[in-house]
Amino acid sequence: MFFWHLCFFTLTLVFAFTKAEAIDENEIERFCYPEQHKNTRQSCECNNENAPPWGIRAINIDCSYKNLKTADFSEALPLYVNTLDLSWNSIDLVPTLASDSLRVLNIMHNNITTVTNKKFVKVTNLRELYLNWNSIQSIELNAFDELAHLHVLDLSHNNLHALALQLFRPLLVLDTLNLSWNRHLNQTEGIQERDFYRTFGVYSKLRILRLQACSLTDLLLPEKAPLAELDLRSNRLEKMPTQLPSTLVKLDISGNLFHTFSAAMTANLSASLSELYVEDMPRLHFVEDNAFLPLTGLQKVSFQNSRRLTEFSGRAFGDEASRFPELRTLIFRGTSVGFFNATLAPIFKQLTELDLNGMPLVCDCELVWMKGLIVETNGRCFNPSRLRGESLTTAEKSDFSCAHWPHWVGGLFIFGLILLCAAGIYAIVMCLRPNRGGVTLRRKVGSGSPYARVTIEPNRQENYY
Ligand SMILES: *[C@@H]1O[C@H](CO)[C@@H](O)[C@H](O)[C@H]1NC(C)=O
Ligand SMILES: *[C@@H]1O[C@H](CO)[C@@H](O)[C@H](O)[C@H]1NC(C)=O
Ligand SMILES: *[C@@H]1O[C@H](CO)[C@@H](O)[C@H](O)[C@H]1NC(C)=O
Ligand SMILES: *[C@@H]1O[C@H](CO)[C@@H](O)[C@H](O)[C@H]1NC(C)=O
Repeated sequence: MFFWHLCFFTLTLVFAFTKAEAIDENEIERFCYPEQHKNTRQSCECNNENAPPWGIRAINIDCSYKNLKTADFSEALPLYVNTLDLSWNSIDLVPTLASDSLRVLNIMHNNITTVTNKKFVKVTNLRELYLNWNSIQSIELNAFDELAHLHVLDLSHNNLHALALQLFRPLLVLDTLNLSWNRHLNQTEGIQERDFYRTFGVYSKLRILRLQACSLTDLLLPEKAPLAELDLRSNRLEKMPTQLPSTLVKLDISGNLFHTFSAAMTANLSASLSELYVEDMPRLHFVEDNAFLPLTGLQKVSFQNSRRLTEFSGRAFGDEASRFPELRTLIFRGTSVGFFNATLAPIFKQLTELDLNGMPLVCDCELVWMKGLIVETNGRCFNPSRLRGESLTTAEKSDFSCAHWPHWVGGLFIFGLILLCAAGIYAIVMCLRPNRGGVTLRRKVGSGSPYARVTIEPNRQENYY
């Protein structure tokens, strides 16, 4: 009895599916190849795929690069549509779409200036929404209503300059929020002074937040938030944001206006931080003692292209290398550091990647310890001039020498020698000059001289005769 019931149930199910599929084909036909665009290049491409693990149909519709306008879209999407790609068109208003199955909606690279209210209330199962690379200036307060399952929201590369209070509140499980490259976002009221999460209604368990190039000078994020990744590249920060989640795993503060990198900057971070990016800093010149002390979970630090950076403290990691057992990668490529203190040897020895490309290394006896590193650094000597251009690996250990006396001693020695010579020459000249004492004597007229007095007397012999 039970067996027949089961059979009947299965048959009904199969029948239902087949029927749905028949309807579905028409819908796909209508959406993908609409009458008005038949055989034109404006029709979209629909891909059918049976998504594992259950073999449920999933239709991916690609309408990119079709010069489509908002008016070209009908509201109802085909059954089983999974992704809809509307990128690189001429859409100027978000089209109202309806689908229970749509997961990914991509509207990048269009011409949208305003996201109006309740455009997404009929695509409530949306997981990812891409609105980046438009010209969005404003988003109405209820724009994201009903997007309770959205994981990824990308609003980067727009013109946002005034976020409404509680704007992101409807996004109950948001995982990634990207607001990068909204150059005037700093004009949003309170964005630099008030708690960012509370002010804009950001989901408290957000994992990734990107705020590149938003002209920010400060930021307040709740200390206890489980944010894992924070991207603050290319802002106008002169110090660390006043308040940061202490459990960050990846932090990018590259391209900001710090002068030094010190222990005070990392005070509010913790051992959970594994990747730190301090690249392209236009003003950074000094990494101070103990700068990394609390960051004992570090795996990678990069200072790439921070061109003003000349000094890296030998005690930047404190005194115990064993505090940083995970550290594997240090990038100094393109900085101006010429010297590393031998106190860094234990740290440098545990690395699998140490990039010293393009640095002006001073290959003297102070740096000879680096010959003991096994990892290939691509470092080259800049000074002394006899080693210029020589690779750190191939240069002979014996060439890394220092003068036994400091340079000024040699200078002084030569200066002394010159003085001595001058004095000697002076003395010799003085000795050779016969008329010493300033008294000038007329030259004596000797008897051999042509000026000798000539006495003219009568010839005495004549008198005898
Ligand atoms: C984008 O919109 C502006 C006006 O809002 C218009 O001048 C421009 O031509 C549009 N660009 C495209 C590619 O449709
Ligand atoms: C925002 O940043 C710009 C520079 O990019 C600056 O001129 C302006 O004063 C800033 N505005 C606020 C409110 O901070
Ligand atoms: C660390 O956080 C506290 C508040 O939690 C704040 O008062 C302090 O200024 C922060 N320190 C730094 C260096 O940012
Ligand atoms: C290297 O560091 C040690 C300990 O901090 C210090 O005493 C020494 O002067 C430093 N050497 C150089 C050449 O700066």
